[in-house]
Amino acid sequence: MRFSRRTLVASSAAALLGLSSLTAAAAGKEVKIGYALAQASHFGAAAQGWSGYVEKATNNAFQFKHFPSSALGGERELIEGLQLGTVEAAVVSTGALSNFVADVGVVDIPFLFRDLGHARNVLDGKFGTDLLAKFQQRGLIALAWGEQGFRHLSNNKHVVKNVADMKGLKIRVTENPVHITAFRALGASPTPMSWPEVVSALQQGTIDGQENPISVLTSAKLWEVQKHLSLTAHVYAPMVLLVSPSFWNGLNAQQKAAFTDGAKIGGKASRTFVDEVEKKGVEEARKHGMAVVDNVDRAAFRKALDKPYEQFAKKFGQKTLDDIAATK
Ligand code: PAF
Repeated sequence: MRFSRRTLVASSAAALLGLSSLTAAAAGKEVKIGYALAQASHFGAAAQGWSGYVEKATNNAFQFKHFPSSALGGERELIEGLQLGTVEAAVVSTGALSNFVADVGVVDIPFLFRDLGHARNVLDGKFGTDLLAKFQQRGLIALAWGEQGFRHLSNNKHVVKNVADMKGLKIRVTENPVHITAFRALGASPTPMSWPEVVSALQQGTIDGQENPISVLTSAKLWEVQKHLSLTAHVYAPMVLLVSPSFWNGLNAQQKAAFTDGAKIGGKASRTFVDEVEKKGVEEARKHGMAVVDNVDRAAFRKALDKPYEQFAKKFGQKTLDDIAATK
């Protein structure tokens, strides 16, 4: 039997197509997941804990493709991608989130949480669950809380121990109205900036400093561009594990359960990572030459925020702040 050249080409193309659709079926539906830092970070821990669980629980019906280190853009772009459905999943800090879900800004109030345990109890309780549910009204599906730790201040100008030392320091802050208000009240010059621009801005000296948890300091090796580290622990930094509504609406109930359970596992993995890095990260920063101030006058920092606290109480409700403070 003889086949024309055209038939042969067509049949091998069909065979290829068949093969590729088989491969696609075997590989599972692709889930693009984006996050700001490297895979070997608390963001990576959350994303891998999440993806590993979902892939296993669904028998590989889904296959995650990781985009670490802001490969899909800054957090604002990532959140917009979720809303548009161009990105299926993301792990983001609350830095940019309150521009989308205003109520989430309450967790960004400085000195609101006493310690990691307090923050975890609040977020794992009714308050945190209700807050996650509010994301739906803004075109986002929030499945679980993750964690970065408490934010501390670093800079290249001088030692910061007291509030007066903040005067005039050009500090990069996240694009977050609560943080901007607080840093202004502390006497600094807050400069909102997307994370992917921060390291080069520190290198070039267009900003003097930044503030982030030890988990970020170590994974971004900020000692390469910063001299002084002040353990201000001025604000707790959670993160949120999210999926896009268009993706979510295409899932059946079992798949939704797998994504939700997996997100919770991922969130826990980020907390475990933070527990570890908090133990040894400051020492690592010292070893890399950072001058660390561990006796910051935190009470004075809190006092300097009395006025902004009046605004925060008006915006988020005094009762909400009291309920959070009263949580054990
Ligand atoms: O500072 C920020 O923007 C955030 O804490 C992080 C994680 C570094 C980037 O989202």
